[in-house]
Amino acid sequence: MFPIERPRRLRQTEGLRALVRETRVAVEQLIYPVFVRPGQGLQEPISSMPGIYQWSVDTLCAHLEEVYALGVHAFLFFGIPSHKDAQGSEAYSPDGIVQRALQAVHERLPDATLIADLCLCEYTDHGHCGLLHGEIVDNDATIDVLARTAVVQARAGATVVAPSDMMDGRVGAIRRALDAAGFEQVPIMSYAAKYASGFYGPFREAAENTPTFGDRRAYQMDPANRQEALKEVLLDLEEGADMVIVKPAMPYLDVLSDVKKAVRVPVAAYQVSGEFAMIKAAGQLGWLEERRVIEESLVSIKRAGADMIITYFAPDMARWAQER
Ligand code: PBG
Repeated sequence: MFPIERPRRLRQTEGLRALVRETRVAVEQLIYPVFVRPGQGLQEPISSMPGIYQWSVDTLCAHLEEVYALGVHAFLFFGIPSHKDAQGSEAYSPDGIVQRALQAVHERLPDATLIADLCLCEYTDHGHCGLLHGEIVDNDATIDVLARTAVVQARAGATVVAPSDMMDGRVGAIRRALDAAGFEQVPIMSYAAKYASGFYGPFREAAENTPTFGDRRAYQMDPANRQEALKEVLLDLEEGADMVIVKPAMPYLDVLSDVKKAVRVPVAAYQVSGEFAMIKAAGQLGWLEERRVIEESLVSIKRAGADMIITYFAPDMARWAQER
């Protein structure tokens, strides 16, 4: 008798396939990124991210109430300030746009997990992720400002702060500042392995944070480096990170898998704007089955080792889960 082993036996029916399925994407582990700007009644489309908008605080609250009701309970906040300057001062102003959004959403949805992206690039007039010294981003001056911003975000109601700047030593500085201000219970989810990626393209339109000169290669990681991701992750953990992020997701599944094996903390992957836009564009052209590819992309990220996934598809996934 040949063949003895017949793996197809377990693939015959959806019932069998569901029983032996190794990986599931849980809606409770999806994090939905949102963009908020000053104003009222706004819902500004982002042309390279169909279905994703810049909101004002009022419309954001209404939108997140709907998304929350679908089952997505964690949100990642990005702000577009009314005023940018060299220091990025709206990042840490108590009535800066993200702080106002955090307060308002926290009031409406007290059980939601509100994650504040912590970086200066949306707030600086030059678009870099820190303070400049000439044309160089000054590492140590920047981490002071980040630490200060973290405290302001925590005060405004952030459940978690998520530094995405890639400065050296920022996690330790943020931890010390939070503890000194009485926020020793606020976790840090660090973008530990964040690559200098072309896949952030559409985000530049969404968050209006394109650098006015140069690029981010002097602080974000080289896409060719795999070992170095572990170094970055281990450094952030030594400094006190509670969770780590690998970003982007699908082009870096090897990195994600390495990180998951190396650490004992929860690992998140960020399916970034360019990953979203590619699937959307091919779906709109009829070149890919959009829903199928979305589900496959997220299951792949999960299979590679992500506990949580930051994804613009979170509301879609929640809606489909409800339909089932
Ligand atoms: C920077 C930041 C970026 C993203 C999240 N935080 C852009 C960048 O580093 O240039 C990109 C997210 C995405 O593309 O979806 N604070």
